[in-house]
Amino acid sequence: MTDKLIIFDTTLRDGEQSPGASMTRDEKLRIARQLERLRVDVIEAGFAASSNGDFEAVKSIANHIRESIVCSLARANDRDIARAAEALKGAARARIHTFIATSALHMEKKLRMTPDQVHEQARQSVRFARNLCGDVEFSPEDGYRSDIDFLCRVLETVIDEGATTLNIPDTVGYAIPELYGNFIRTLRERIPNSDKAIWSVHCHNDLGMAVANSLAGVKIGGARQVECTINGLGERAGNCSLEEVVMAVRTRRDYFDLDMGIDTTQILAASRMVSQTTGFVVQPNKAVVGANAFAHASGIHQDGVLKARDTYEIMRAEDVGWAANKIVLGKLSGRNAFKQRLQDLGIEMESEAEINAAFARFTDLADRKSEIFDEDIIALVGDESVTAEHEHYRLLALSQRSETGERPHARVAFAAGEIEHHAESDGNGPVDASLKAIESKVASGAELMLYSVNAITSGSTESQGEVTVRLQHGGRIVNGVGADPDIVVASAKAYLSALNKLQSKAERVAAQG
Ligand code: KIV
Ligand code: ZN
Repeated sequence: MTDKLIIFDTTLRDGEQSPGASMTRDEKLRIARQLERLRVDVIEAGFAASSNGDFEAVKSIANHIRESIVCSLARANDRDIARAAEALKGAARARIHTFIATSALHMEKKLRMTPDQVHEQARQSVRFARNLCGDVEFSPEDGYRSDIDFLCRVLETVIDEGATTLNIPDTVGYAIPELYGNFIRTLRERIPNSDKAIWSVHCHNDLGMAVANSLAGVKIGGARQVECTINGLGERAGNCSLEEVVMAVRTRRDYFDLDMGIDTTQILAASRMVSQTTGFVVQPNKAVVGANAFAHASGIHQDGVLKARDTYEIMRAEDVGWAANKIVLGKLSGRNAFKQRLQDLGIEMESEAEINAAFARFTDLADRKSEIFDEDIIALVGDESVTAEHEHYRLLALSQRSETGERPHARVAFAAGEIEHHAESDGNGPVDASLKAIESKVASGAELMLYSVNAITSGSTESQGEVTVRLQHGGRIVNGVGADPDIVVASAKAYLSALNKLQSKAERVAAQG
């Protein structure tokens, strides 16, 4: 057992499994770079065998990330494992994470395999993976609901085969902190070779206890790796939230007595990047990264904090990256200043042409908005997905008219590949009219499941509006995000971004078929 807690981030794999949270390869690479700045120990970059898109994303992250270990998920079969190894070839430090379900329910109903078959498949897969990679993690899916005798048998075998990390998922978020902690402790006590591997916790948040369960797994169970996601992103109610678990261990070092390699000042930037990329907005009262997390509204609290900070603050806002919003650039800032700011924010662009395109969007924004904040720059770079040449749908122009007592009307010009479309429509409001105009030409038939607007920088009507549009079509769900000082334009961008994602997802599915 070591006194270091390994932080394993799975935002790009388990987080991305959340309906609507799918990301492009470039978006994933940008987030992976931020995770590396945050100094997470392991980045689970995706599930290489699940699609060509995921394979390319894992490969690209493996080729660019040098400090963190880059990991790919793989089902417990040779094809998946070989595909993961192939995607990870360029990694400085690679890990293969293989899994198979071990609960009676999953084995019988989902896998239709006997316990002996599952045991044998786990053995073969870890053996195969170890021949390809020195760092192999094994997860018994639905581990927490598995028969403990059977689980001990499987885990003992995979340690013998060379698994270096054993991860015990609470796949359906059913655990209770004390029981989960005891479960991990019992496994470690009963398995004779348990000290040959690092034990890891992986908790889902269905009952709102993912962070508490993970911490119990660490404190009671002796786990030394926590699997988590930025903002707790993930399917259903999400995964254990990285920022909460990290700040709990750091703030209560007196209790946990564990070291971590995390640079906590990068937490907020990571949170914003994930939220802006996926369109999953962070609730204001979310611990650590919510807009109100460090805001004291009541007079008594404000008075106390002014007299002595620690009367009401257990963490310092600046330690997790909160600083007063800085006006970083304005209309007169040149290309070099802009390029430098991109570098400071850790945004790397592949080519001069990309920087030029981003700078053109920056000057356009600076013409319309006097103060440009870091958040605006992050949104502007994210917006590339709408304006970049390689995207199918791109907004060209929009005008709309709305007046009290009149039905709003919008005209939209947009490109679909090489073709320029001009469309117009009435609507209940200008946003409705704009989206209807686009839909009149595209005829996607997609169902609008969510529409939300947020101010990118808080507290001012001068802020850019950031719009999230969630569309569903043919069983697929995607989120599109668009930002602009004009929320009608931001809405049209978000709608086109969602259509682009629907289209690229359809291509991915077709490529697999
Ligand atoms: O929740 C789960 O069981 C998983 C495994 C694949 C590790 O995500
Ligand atoms: Zn999971």
